[in-house]
Amino acid sequence: MTQDDLKRAVAQAAVAHVPEDCIVGVGTGSTANFFIDELGKIKHRIQGAVASSEASAKRLQGHGIEVVSLNEAGTLPVYVDGADEITRHLHMIKGGGGALTREKIVAAASKKFVCVCDASKLVDVLGKFPLPVEVIPMARSYVARQIVVLGGQPRLREGFTTDNGNLILDVYGLTILNPVELETTLNNIAGVVTNGLFARRPADVLLLGTASGVQTLTV
Ligand code: A5P
Repeated sequence: MTQDDLKRAVAQAAVAHVPEDCIVGVGTGSTANFFIDELGKIKHRIQGAVASSEASAKRLQGHGIEVVSLNEAGTLPVYVDGADEITRHLHMIKGGGGALTREKIVAAASKKFVCVCDASKLVDVLGKFPLPVEVIPMARSYVARQIVVLGGQPRLREGFTTDNGNLILDVYGLTILNPVELETTLNNIAGVVTNGLFARRPADVLLLGTASGVQTLTV
C-alpha cells in the first residue's frame, strides 16, 4: 500500500462523519485533497463547504461544490483536515502547506474536528516537523529573535506568502513537551498571527491510515 492509498482510505472513512445536508469545513493539503474528491461523490448530500485555503476552495469548486464563507455559514458540524504531526492526545502540528491560520479559524468554528492522516504522522512528541508560525511581514525579524529566546531556530519560508498576505517562519529544533503552553506563548508575541500548534483546540477524532486498515483514535 502506498502513502496515497492510506490517505485515500482515511479520506473515504471521513465521509461517514459528514452529516446529511450540512456545510462541511474542509482543510488543506494532499490528504484533504483526497477528502475533497470524496466529497465530490456525495455533493448532492451536502449544502456546501467552507474552505481553509484558496487552493481547497478551487478544488471544491472544480467538483461543483458550493464554497460558502465562514461568516455566512456560522458554526459547522464538522471540519476534516490533515496534519503534519499528531500525538495520541490528538495535539497537532499543522501548516506545512502554509494554511494554518485559516485552518485554525475553521477548526475553532467547528463542533467536531476529524483529522485524517497516514500512519507516518503519528508521533510521541511534537517538534521534529518544523513548526510553522505566520507573521505580519514587518514583524518578521522581531518575532524570529523572540523565537530564538524560546530555544527555537526560525527559518523564513523563502518565496512564500500566505493567503492572508503574510510570511511563514518555520521553527526547527523544538521538542514540544507542553504544546498548549507553547501555542499560547508563541501567539502572545507581537506580530504573530498564529502558529501551527493545534493543542488548545485539538482534534476530536483521528482516522489513521495503516497497512492493516483505518484506525479510529479519540482522547
Ligand atoms: C496545510 O497548511 C497543513 O496544515 C496540512 O493540513 C498538513 O500539512 C497536512 O498536509 P498533507 O495531508 O499534505 O500531509
